[in-house]
Amino acid sequence: MGICSTVSKALRRGKFFFLLILLLSLLAWIATFSGETVKSILAPFGTTETFVKGDKLREKLNVLLTEPDQVIAPTQSAECPQVSPLLKGAVGLSFEPSLKLKDLEIANKGVTEGEYEPSDCTARQSVAILIPHRNRERHLLYLLHHLHPFLQRQQLHYAIYVIQQAGDETFNRAKLLNIGYLEALKDYIWDCFIFHDVDLVPENDNNLYICDKQPKHLVVGRNSTGYRLRYKGYFGGVTAMTRDQFLQVNGFSNNYWGWGGEDDDLRVRVELQKMKILRPSADVARYTMVFHKRDSGNEINNKRMGLLSQTSHVWKKDGLNSCSYKTLSVERLPLYVNVTVDIGKPHI
Ligand SMILES: *[C@@H]1O[C@H](CO)[C@@H](O)[C@H](O)[C@H]1NC(C)=O
Ligand SMILES: *[C@@H]1O[C@H](CO)[C@@H](O)[C@H](O)[C@H]1NC(C)=O
Repeated sequence: MGICSTVSKALRRGKFFFLLILLLSLLAWIATFSGETVKSILAPFGTTETFVKGDKLREKLNVLLTEPDQVIAPTQSAECPQVSPLLKGAVGLSFEPSLKLKDLEIANKGVTEGEYEPSDCTARQSVAILIPHRNRERHLLYLLHHLHPFLQRQQLHYAIYVIQQAGDETFNRAKLLNIGYLEALKDYIWDCFIFHDVDLVPENDNNLYICDKQPKHLVVGRNSTGYRLRYKGYFGGVTAMTRDQFLQVNGFSNNYWGWGGEDDDLRVRVELQKMKILRPSADVARYTMVFHKRDSGNEINNKRMGLLSQTSHVWKKDGLNSCSYKTLSVERLPLYVNVTVDIGKPHI
């Protein structure tokens, strides 16, 4: 009897365990299944679905952009304060003809291969500064001279990229900036991109080189316009967009050869996405424009008005997803990365 009751108890318990295991496997199966469902819903996330599918470059970019943020090492220091204690406000700028790149390198020992990170706190944003360039070595020198300490006082993690157009074909600022974005993302998943003309030097470090919830235009005034906005809607000179904002508008058009129009085109793209352009206050967003004559190879683009009237029809096909170029060299110099590219020539 005693043995009998023990056996029947064990059998009942066995049934119970069998049922429990069955239930658990069922739950596990449901969890796996629903996990996959969630993943497949999330896959074509937000902005990407507006783009032409099947483009290799785009796909690569998407992979890059869906990668999780860089893992933060537990040893890293606290986030930098909201307002950097190092800011000085308006500073007097100097443009010494005797200035040499070597002097700048000595003065900016904390910068390696164009990149800098504050040593005592973790920067709030990682920012890539993109400067389109050809034959403006002196302007570049003046800009680097002021920009490095300016960005360091803002406690940013940043890198400066100079995108150099090879050859003598008409200059294409916008395409060089698209290339800068694509090339910089190969180094690091930057949060924010500053599209920066080589001849504009910021006068006040309260003009923060960080991105916002909306695209930012940083040049309200410059000495050459009496510190007034050049015209309503002006979106050129220096602008700041997040990685996602720039992707959402498909970057710049690649088709503006010569001076003018490409910045208005970007404004139209931004407005088509129902984004709003933000500007810092006029007393802060001030620049000195270093004097120069119009470069040969950057004549006024007479096609710009015609191109601008087409933007709303062509923006999905003309931009980051159609930007083709050949990288000729990437030189990692102490104070900037020099990406030299062959960008082809205008279609006739
Ligand atoms: C703006 O300032 C720069 C640097 O001092 C100077 O080279 C340039 O001529 C100035 N432009 C005007 C229009 O005053
Ligand atoms: C960038 O590299 C190219 C190729 O070596 C060179 O011709 C050009 O002068 C460099 N530009 C700058 C600004 O360093």
